[in-house]
Amino acid sequence: MSTKLLPIVVLISGRGSNFFAILEQVQAGKLPVDIRAVISNCSQAQGLHYAQQAGIKTHILDHRKYRQRQIFDRELIKIIDFYTPELVVLAGFMRILTAEFVQYYIGRLMNIHPSLLPEFPGLNTHQRALEAKVCEHGATVHFVTEEVDGGPIILQAKVPIYKHDTPEILADRVLEEEHKIYPQAILAFAKKEICLSKDGQVIRTTPSVK
Ligand code: GRF
Repeated sequence: MSTKLLPIVVLISGRGSNFFAILEQVQAGKLPVDIRAVISNCSQAQGLHYAQQAGIKTHILDHRKYRQRQIFDRELIKIIDFYTPELVVLAGFMRILTAEFVQYYIGRLMNIHPSLLPEFPGLNTHQRALEAKVCEHGATVHFVTEEVDGGPIILQAKVPIYKHDTPEILADRVLEEEHKIYPQAILAFAKKEICLSKDGQVIRTTPSVK
């Protein structure tokens, strides 16, 4: 692949399966990305092991040691910026970020959310989708703005909901799609096919990501 590698930093809090899906695509030569570091706010995050095994730098920044969200976020910025990423990838990073942080990385901060936004922002999305008796559910990759789970949508994947689904079964079905669309969205960003406009819209320069 001749495209220049896009430097990224990935933020996780736990399992790290989305990070792993991205890593697999990079290792397979399908995603022109240089994962410069993985940062977690939890020392027990399983995803840190995947990074270490792949020889990627890892950092733990324990939010419990910071009384103020703003101070935590400023420390986080320092660590991230050491790696000069062009994109910061939130992959199950379970922290609400300050407006200051979001504005600092505006247009180069992406998140994945396990619902078809704007439906079901926040937590427990699978349970809530079942309770709402909707017939389809899914996942969304979006640019991060100050509105939690409210940023402009880059890519979505839908899954059906079946009669006997439990939140766990539905979560697995959605996660499978997450692992496809997050690398796709990052690829589109790396190829400069998408960007965030000043007025907060996703600009698509080619039709490959609809
Ligand atoms: C995913 O469902 C993602 O959409 C949400 O948090 C979960 C993280 O899972 N933001 P993992 O840590 O990537 O396995």
